[in-house]
Amino acid sequence: MTDSSAQYSWMELSPLLEQSEGAAFIAHTERFRSNIEALKQAFEKHYSNFSIGYSYKTNHLPELCKIAHQEGLYAEVVSGSEYSIAKTLGVTGDRILFNGPTKSNDELRAAFVNQSLVNIDSVSEARQVARLTEEFGGDVRVGLRCNLDLNWKDRISRFGLSEESGELQLALEVLGSRNNIVLEGLHCHTSFDRSAASYSRRIVRLIEISDQIFGGNGPRFLDVGGGLCGPMSDELRNQFFTPPPTFDDYAAAICTPLIERYGSAGPELIVEPGVGLLGNVFEYAYCVEHVKKTGSDWFAVTSGASHHIKIVPNDFNLPTTCLRSPDVPDDERRMAPVDIAGYTCLEHDIIYHGFEQPVAKGDILITSSVGAYSMVSSPDFIRTSPPVYEYRSGEWRTLRGKLSIRDYLKNFSW
Ligand SMILES: Cc1ncc(COP(=O)(O)O)c(C=O)c1O
Repeated sequence: MTDSSAQYSWMELSPLLEQSEGAAFIAHTERFRSNIEALKQAFEKHYSNFSIGYSYKTNHLPELCKIAHQEGLYAEVVSGSEYSIAKTLGVTGDRILFNGPTKSNDELRAAFVNQSLVNIDSVSEARQVARLTEEFGGDVRVGLRCNLDLNWKDRISRFGLSEESGELQLALEVLGSRNNIVLEGLHCHTSFDRSAASYSRRIVRLIEISDQIFGGNGPRFLDVGGGLCGPMSDELRNQFFTPPPTFDDYAAAICTPLIERYGSAGPELIVEPGVGLLGNVFEYAYCVEHVKKTGSDWFAVTSGASHHIKIVPNDFNLPTTCLRSPDVPDDERRMAPVDIAGYTCLEHDIIYHGFEQPVAKGDILITSSVGAYSMVSSPDFIRTSPPVYEYRSGEWRTLRGKLSIRDYLKNFSW
């Protein structure tokens, strides 16, 4: 499935945007389901003991979390807040993977009681867990997040337990001091390198480490984290320096070493995709407010803003289409190229550089591939964060309303 937005008309979207300061996210939940299916099929062809942890941080829209749960995915959470969202949506504790670099004592106690799996990130956290298990009667399920020394294009990750510094070994010793701590497996995650070859190196190294720790029978699980690329349009794909891998490429790269070591029925293999399942699930719709010339450059000033769709500024021009306002004759449109700018007062708020389609005041722009790290990191900066509408089989449904100023102010004392 592509991320084309050709199915909407200007007439249909215009009244929705008028209610919400000119901007909204559009969710295609059926694409989320089909991405999950495609990922499962790619891996299960090779290896049946396969599970997906849905990365809540990437987009915790309750409707998406609910679908993930219905599809049998774990909830992969990295905070007490995300843990509470999962519990509130009916996810049982044993279906929650609790990751992240810090967890409070109360959050850990809740995870222990609910039989969630806690992946430990540091020696200090291993000590925190060991201390808390002294007051906890039952068994506690843990994994170790490994900081794999795999030369990530000369970058060093700050997450996980380093093999090189000896902290991985130290954490093992700390956990070994308590007999109600059950070490179930190993975890790793980085998005420094999304190539399929890098996933092959990750799983090979995880297997080597787990052979040293667990011996012949292996661990209960091996978790290679997220960072996978997912389905995307050719327009986006062509902007990558090397072609992004497909789910099939990842499955072959990860499952081959796993099968070589364990046969087809080894440890549970877990992946934790965010962007790979979500990229094409959201679009961002907003309006052209003014078209202006500064020096020799043309700008379309819009009711959108880049901070709603890019958590980290980058050079990608996300695929964008223009729905022409019926009120403007075609010969009044600025013929390309224009930079599409946001409503903020920030110079760097450019949504698209060198947009090549004719635009005019009143047109609606739709930027696609914005499902990951958009809604969840969209601040109330200058305007409150946009609403989310689901578009499914020609019907619109509000999945998150626009935060009114009355509700926004409720949280403050004054
Ligand atoms: C532990 C962990 N798992 C999964 C993810 C999801 O990563 P991505 O959205 O790149 O797939 C992240 C993202 O930071 C993460 O920290």
